[in-house]
Amino acid sequence: MTESTTIRWEQDETGVVTLVLDDPNQSANTMNQAFRDSIEAVADRAEAEKDSIRGIIYASAKKTFFAGGDLKDMIRIGPENAQAAFDAGTAIKRSLRRIETLGKPVVAAINGAALGGGYEIALASHHRVALDAPGSRIGLPEVTLGLLPAGGGVTRTVRLMGIADALLKVLLQGTQYTPRRALENGLVHEVAATPEEMLDKARAFIDANPESQQPWDVKGYRIPGGTPSNPKFAANLPAFPSNLKKQLAGAPMPAPRNILAAAVEGSQVDFENALTIEARYFTELVTGQVSKNMIQAFFFDLQAVNSGASRPKGIEERQVRKVAVLGAGMMGAGIAYSCARAGIDVVLKDVSTEAAAKGKAYSEKLLDKALSRGRTTEAQRDELLARITPTGDPADLAGCDAVIEAVFEDTALKHKVFQEIQDIIEPDALLCSNTSTLPITALAEGVERPVDFIGLHFFSPVDKMPLVEIIKGEKTGDEALARAFDLVRRIKKTPIVVNDSRGFFTSRVIGQFINEGVAMVGEGVEPASVEQAAAQAGYPAKVLSLMDELTLTLPRKIRNETRKAVEEAGGSWAGHPSDAVIDRMVDEFGRPGRSGGAGFYEYDESGKRTRLWPGLREHFGTKADTGISFTDMQERMLFSEALDSVRCLEENVLITVADANIGSIMGIGFPAWTGGVLQYINGYESGLPGFVARSRELAERYGDRFLPPALLVEKAEKGETFHD
Ligand code: NAI
Repeated sequence: MTESTTIRWEQDETGVVTLVLDDPNQSANTMNQAFRDSIEAVADRAEAEKDSIRGIIYASAKKTFFAGGDLKDMIRIGPENAQAAFDAGTAIKRSLRRIETLGKPVVAAINGAALGGGYEIALASHHRVALDAPGSRIGLPEVTLGLLPAGGGVTRTVRLMGIADALLKVLLQGTQYTPRRALENGLVHEVAATPEEMLDKARAFIDANPESQQPWDVKGYRIPGGTPSNPKFAANLPAFPSNLKKQLAGAPMPAPRNILAAAVEGSQVDFENALTIEARYFTELVTGQVSKNMIQAFFFDLQAVNSGASRPKGIEERQVRKVAVLGAGMMGAGIAYSCARAGIDVVLKDVSTEAAAKGKAYSEKLLDKALSRGRTTEAQRDELLARITPTGDPADLAGCDAVIEAVFEDTALKHKVFQEIQDIIEPDALLCSNTSTLPITALAEGVERPVDFIGLHFFSPVDKMPLVEIIKGEKTGDEALARAFDLVRRIKKTPIVVNDSRGFFTSRVIGQFINEGVAMVGEGVEPASVEQAAAQAGYPAKVLSLMDELTLTLPRKIRNETRKAVEEAGGSWAGHPSDAVIDRMVDEFGRPGRSGGAGFYEYDESGKRTRLWPGLREHFGTKADTGISFTDMQERMLFSEALDSVRCLEENVLITVADANIGSIMGIGFPAWTGGVLQYINGYESGLPGFVARSRELAERYGDRFLPPALLVEKAEKGETFHD
């Protein structure tokens, strides 16, 4: 028997064994080699000493219960290690299964987060008690990393709740539940208020169920809701893949498909074979490129970004107490809500108290909805609303130590509103603008303290969108950057940091995607195919519908201003093939987008999108075959954004690779399977050299804008990739 190193065996006088999960080398427990050895040793001992054991409790000595697979290991597994990956997973599963079928009650005492592998250990227990700890989350989020839960997660959830619920509630979305919601959805059996209560409940289960077994190990067990061999179930089965197809719109995301296959195929065989099927589908995913992209972005990059890789070092945290939000329109109202939710007092100012009150009403609307869904309490609602003071009077801004401006997109107006208040607010207050396009350096010229002035670019709708782009102006100081960063973290959003430029990083790069889609309409590509290409590439919003939402006039205005600025600076303006299409749509056909009632789409009176405007085909000479392949269509969109991101790095607009990847996925809808704009290049077929070759091919066919920037060519030649 090997000595257990990450699991402590603690047996009390009544014969209850607590298996304390406590990896001595890490702050969280993971399914690494040491755990594999330990759990095997524990299974050996449990079998050997079975007669003296009355029950088993999995508990954790860490803040979280168990963190899951070791992603540092997983990201390195290539097709050449497929068999080793398969075998390692099998070993852990075998040990958990031996403990599960020992004939003794097994309970998981979930003291904190149990995600992925952690929840799989809990699933291999007969009873699950979760501590109702704040911030604790339970679920199987593997799909969000392009993987599937292969520690028995698919096999057991299917047997616990039936194929449909397992897929929809747990596996396909990777939903992370709070302990209470986990209870409501059948992921755990009980919730406890204190650690003592949790352990009491675990022991009570052991006392009451000395012969406990898993439901699926009881003779005569059937999967709830039936399996494909049941005619009624089989009748519904064809709907599954088509629902899934709709959900994915054909994007190259192998994980959901493999999860579906593992669940359905696994339901038709016995437990042990189901585990093997699950492992095979996992091995395919873990050795593929998409899981590597997603692990890079959603684990490593996200961690780097949120932990402050871009925050200046050595500056003490100084939290904002009272924030002034200028402009109570769509963005201001959302920003006020997000700040108040984080416990910050907000003075919401607009041209009048009435206008500001309208902005506050938005918070009321959101909170009433949350209340009706049981997501907040009346007391919390009232407390949050009490933090927002609407006003039309600048004098009410006294005492504010931060300002976030969100008035109309107009430099002169923005200068004016800052001038109005700068002597009223705290003398060293942080000054932020939520402009989406105006250069921060120029805006900072309108305030007395440009060193404290910074861009804080939120995305719409603010309460849902997780990203904030922080923009450093030429004169922005490190202190302001650190304070802005801390403010964004405090309101629980993810901050990326970029240097000033027109459109910064996000607005500039998303513009490339939109322009490419619009250009194709001008080249005679069937507009519905353009939309389909975007959806199948994995973009959450179709390109022409997105253009309509943003309005055609806004990018046109920005384009004209940019051209003017470039020409005034003595540069030459190449323009884009989409320019002519946008100009004709606005000037000739009077179709400025959704807010104007007509754009690439038609809208009914309530503003609902009805269909693509048939006039597009007529006026832009849509052809049955343009000779532009579907792959070219998709890659024109993806490459246009990736290439411009490389230019952003070259121009020092982007500072880190992690910010680029995270900002592109979380801010502007770059497809998640790519791992973000720069990881997409790393993971492209044949790596950077392959990307360079393909860029040149696209440039040849569609224009010089696809020529690879020098930085990309240089890295490809040196055999490097884009990593921080
Ligand atoms: P909006 O038109 O909904 O709201 C602007 C608000 O500013 C209005 O309530 C208006 O009454 C108020 N306002 C005008 N003059 C004022 C003054 N002198 N004092 C106080 N308030 C005044 O505009 P929206 O969409 O909220 O945009 C605001 C800013 O946020 C703009 O700079 C925009 O570029 C930026 N932004 C917009 C995004 C979007 O998706 N709409 C996304 C990110 C940034």
